[in-house]
Order: sequence, then structure tokens, then C-alpha cells
Amino acid sequence: MDPITNPYSPGAGTPPPELAGRDELLNKVRIAIERIRRGRSAQSILMLGLRGVGKTVLLDQMRDNAEATGFYTLRIEAPESLSLPALIAPELRVTLLRLSKVEQAKTYSVLALRALAGFATALKVKFQDIEVGLDFEPEPGLADNGDLAHDLAALLEAVGIAAKKAGSAVVMFIDELQYVEEDQLAVLISALHRCAQRKLPVTLVGAGLPQLRGRMGRAKSYAERLFEFPDVGALNEEEAALAITKPAEEEGVELETGAVAAIFKQTNGYPYFIQEWAKSAWDVASESPITLDDVDAASTIAIAALDSSFFRVRFDRLTPSEKRYLRAMADLGPGPHRSGDIAGKLERPVQSVAPVRNNLIKSGMIWSPYHGDTAFTVPLFDDFMQRILPGDEWKAV
Ligand SMILES: Nc1ncnc2c1ncn2[C@@H]1O[C@H](COP(=O)(O)OP(=O)(O)OP(=O)(O)O)[C@@H](O)[C@H]1O
Ligand SMILES: [Mg+2]
Repeated sequence: MDPITNPYSPGAGTPPPELAGRDELLNKVRIAIERIRRGRSAQSILMLGLRGVGKTVLLDQMRDNAEATGFYTLRIEAPESLSLPALIAPELRVTLLRLSKVEQAKTYSVLALRALAGFATALKVKFQDIEVGLDFEPEPGLADNGDLAHDLAALLEAVGIAAKKAGSAVVMFIDELQYVEEDQLAVLISALHRCAQRKLPVTLVGAGLPQLRGRMGRAKSYAERLFEFPDVGALNEEEAALAITKPAEEEGVELETGAVAAIFKQTNGYPYFIQEWAKSAWDVASESPITLDDVDAASTIAIAALDSSFFRVRFDRLTPSEKRYLRAMADLGPGPHRSGDIAGKLERPVQSVAPVRNNLIKSGMIWSPYHGDTAFTVPLFDDFMQRILPGDEWKAV
């Protein structure tokens, strides 16, 4: 059918035509930030999920909703390299400049901008990656100690006071939080804790890979109490059916029940894969309704598309020994697997492959659901590894 009207949208962070199955989470965040605005307590929400489940699009939707209801938001994606202060400073500045337009909040927004100036200037020595425009002179003694823990808490407090004066709240939406260094996570947690204690309306809504939970706990033992960690997972059959059929219906196109069931089966309900399969099925079909045969024919195309994008970008970043490690995991099946079994496949002692495993956890390719267990963070990556490195030759490389 006409590719121009194809409604599906596979892609990292690309909003789906129908955001299926996430109403409960959207509502949870709506309630939490509204409570914060009113000076009531609420846990910050950190969504955990594998690659391609829809964390980024959910975070974007939550942010849009928050902006539409009068909150001041920041949207940040933690890269693997930048420091937390470098990440936050420029975004906070924009938020504060916007807050300073609110008459009742003007004085305190300017004070917070002066705090930001002190913060950036004092920490620049330690975090050379901080780049932020300074609109005001620092206020001596305000967030300018040069100690991140102290200065971030002071800065966020100043932000909170300005937000409170505006009758609003500042909500920081941070994606890929697992990439923030543990000591910097600790500082962020304690600064948020301080704001919570003072009932100041500043909060965090974050997203990351499942390893984030352990990182938060290690960074601050009380993080478990301060945060809620809802899982963002695959869609169930009903939600997946909605994600598949509703966008088509809006274009006047039907899908046979068997076609929908087949897409669910092939994709295990993973949102990224659903978009890819539905898109290919649409392209293959010559007319409505889209049939089971269309879906079968589309599978090869969908897999090829995923292999050359979703999976491939991750594969290309791996070192040869990381590829071998993941290929050995794939040999054992979808997982999780015992680290000893993986080392066994590699015919190496566990300790000698531990550094490779650690690097893979750090770069977000794998995680450890339980001590000594290892699982892929990318759904269906085991099948991909078998496709791209078939046979036994990988062992010799
Ligand atoms: N609830 C949903 N219903 C249907 N499709 C969805 C849903 N959530 C996400 N998608 C689709 O899934 C794909 C992946 O979404 P997104 O990039 O947000 O995932 P992610 O969890 O952030 O992945 P990564 O960990 O790789 O960053 C996108 O094409 C998006 O349109
Ligand atoms: Mg994402």
C-alpha cells in the first residue's frame, strides 16, 4: 500500500502513532509532579527498561504533558562522556530565564541565575566540560564552593524557591541515566533529597536501562525510598493489537486477526519491533485488509531493516572480544545466563573474561538481573548475534 500514508514509525525516540499501554505510567507521573507542585511528598520516578521498549518517547510525552499543564521542564539525555553539571547547567539556565518572565518569580529566578553563575564558575576547574552562558554575576557564597555536592544542592534549592514563587514546579526529565557516573548520581540524589525535605518543587523523572536501579542503590543507600522504579516492558497482546490496528484504522485500513497475532508473536510485543513489522506489512500488502501472508512476507524485510539499524549500530561499536562474549551468550539462548556458563562457552576462566563483561555492562549492552547472571539489554539480540556471526568461526577469531 501507499508508503506515503504508512503510519508506523520505527526509530530511536520516534513518537509512535499510538502510544499503547502506557496510560498508567503517564498518570503516575502526572500525579507525582502535581503533588510536588503543591508542596506534598512524592517519590521521583525512574523508568527502567530494555532497549527499544519506548522509554524515550514516554519521557517526551510526559514532558509535553507537563509543559501543557504549566510546569517548567528540562529535557536532558546523558551521553556516555559528559559530566552531570555540564549536562544540567545550560538546560537549567533556559528554564530559569523562562521562569524569570513570571512577575512573582522574577527576583528569585535572578537569584537562581546568579547561583548558576557561581556554580558554573566554581566547578569549571573540576568539570572543564561545563559550557553555559552567564547572564548575571555570581552571588558570593551562593553555590560557589567548588564542591559539587554542596553547590548542586544549593543551586537546586534556589531553583525550587523560584519555581515555588511562580506557583509551579521544575521537572527534570533525564534519559539514559545509567550513563551518569555513580558519584555524580549520588550528588544528584542528595540534592533532590534536600529539596524534598524543604518541600521545594523540584523533581526528577528519569529513564534508563535496568542496571540503573543497582547504580542508584550503590550511589546512595536511601535511593530506594526516594525513588520509584516502574518497569517499562514489552506490550501485552491487547496493547500490541491496539498499537498495530489503531494507526491503520485511522488511514481506513484493516488487519486480519491472524495478521495482528502474527506480528505480536514475531515481535514478542516489543514496541520497536512492532513498529518495524507493522511498517513492513503495510508496505508489502497490496490492499486492505493486511493478511497473515503479508505479515509472513514482511518478516524478512523487517528483520533486514532491524539488522541494518537497531542491532547493527550496537554491534559496530563492539570490540572483537566483546563480540565474542556476546556471541557466546547468544549460543546459550536468550538468557539470562550464568557468567560461568558464558566463560565456559569461551573456554576461558571466569576472571579472565570479567573485564570484558564489565565493559559491556558499562556501555549498556548487558546487565545483571541477579548476582552472577548476565542478560542482554537489547531484546532478541541473541538471534541477531547468531545471524551476523553464524557457525563456529567466531570461536577462532
Ligand atoms: N507504547 C508504544 N506503543 C507503540 N509503539 C511504541 C510505544 N513506545 C515506543 N514505541 C515505538 O518504539 C520505538 C522505540 O521507542 P524509544 O526510542 O522510545 O525506545 P527506548 O526505550 O528509548 O529505546 P533505547 O533504550 O534504545 O533508547 C519507536 O519507534 C517508538 O515509536
Ligand atoms: Mg531511548
